[in-house]
Amino acid sequence: MSSEQPPQVAFITGGSSGIGLALARRLARTGTKLALVDRDEESLGHAVAEIESMQTRAIGLVCDVGDRAQVFHAAERADAELGPVDLVVNNAGVGAAGAIGDISSDSWDWVMRVNLMGVIHGIEAFVPKLKARGRGYILNTASMAGMRGGAFMGPYCASKAAVVSISETLYAELSPMGIGVSVLCPGFVKTRLHLTSFETDPANKEADPQLVAFSPLIETGIPVEAVAERIVEAMKNRELYIFTHPGYASIVEERYAQLRQAFEAAAQSPAISSLDTALPAISLG
Ligand SMILES: NC(=O)c1ccc[n+]([C@@H]2O[C@H](COP(=O)([O-])OP(=O)(O)OC[C@H]3O[C@@H](n4cnc5c(N)ncnc54)[C@H](O)[C@@H]3O)[C@@H](O)[C@H]2O)c1
Repeated sequence: MSSEQPPQVAFITGGSSGIGLALARRLARTGTKLALVDRDEESLGHAVAEIESMQTRAIGLVCDVGDRAQVFHAAERADAELGPVDLVVNNAGVGAAGAIGDISSDSWDWVMRVNLMGVIHGIEAFVPKLKARGRGYILNTASMAGMRGGAFMGPYCASKAAVVSISETLYAELSPMGIGVSVLCPGFVKTRLHLTSFETDPANKEADPQLVAFSPLIETGIPVEAVAERIVEAMKNRELYIFTHPGYASIVEERYAQLRQAFEAAAQSPAISSLDTALPAISLG
C-alpha cells in the first residue's frame, strides 16, 4: 500500500464488531476487499453481508487469534481468495479487570493470549510476505492503556503496552523497507468491548464488577466512525502513533514528567553520577 493509494486487500481481526467493523466499512467505500476475521461466527456473517451490500468483496474467516495455526490458516485463505493482503489490522481484543493478586491466572492467560499473542500471530503470518513484496502496512490496535499502567487494569495495560512496544520495534525494522506500521491507541470508544469480554472470559462467567465500572465509559465513548476516519487519515501520513483523544495527552505528559524526575534522581546519585552513561552510538530507530 503506498501512502497515496487505498489498500487493495485488508485482513482485519476483530472485524465483525466495533472499531474493526467500522474500519472495514470505511475501507469498503474506497474499494478495498476485506477479510474479516473473528471468533464470533454469527456477527461475522452479519458483517460480511453488510460489506457485500456496499458492492465490495468480503469474506468472513472464523478464527481465534490466540491460536497461531488458525491465524496462519486464515492468512493463507485471505491471500488465496482475495489476492495478496496489503493491510494487516491486528485489532481483536478483550478486557478483564480486577486488582493484581485477585485476578485469576486464567484471566491473565486469556487477555495476554488474545491481546498480545493475537497481534504477534498476525505479524508472524504476514511480515515475511510483506517483506518479500517490499510493500504493505501493519496496523496494531493497542490502547491509551498501553501508554501507562492503571489500577484494576493489570493484564489489559500490560498486553497493550507490549503491543505499543512491538509496534515501535516493527516501525524501526520495516519503515526502511517501505512497509508502514502504526499503533492505534484509542481512549474510550462506544463499542461492545465490555460485553464481548464478559461473554468470552473463561474465568468470569458473571460480569466482572470492576469491568462493569468501565462500562459507562465505553458506552459514552466516541463513535467508531470517527476512529475509522482518523485511522485512514493517519495511515496516509504513515503516523506511528494514532491517538483519538487529544484530551488524554495528560496521561503521557504525567508519565514523561515522572520519568524525567527519575533520570534526574539517577544523575544526582553518588552511585551513578561519576560514571560514563552517555548513550552508545547505535541507532534504535
Ligand atoms: N472500545 C474502547 O473503548 C477501546 C479503547 C481502547 C482500545 N480498544 C481496543 O480496540 C480493539 C477492538 O475492540 P472494540 O472496542 O471494537 O470491541 P468489540 O468487542 O466491539 O470488538 C472486538 C472484536 O474482537 C473479537 N474477538 C475477541 N476475542 C477474539 C479472539 N480470540 N479471536 C478473534 N476475535 C476475537 C470479538 O468477537 C469482537 O468482534 C480491541 O483490541 C480493544 O482492546 C478499545
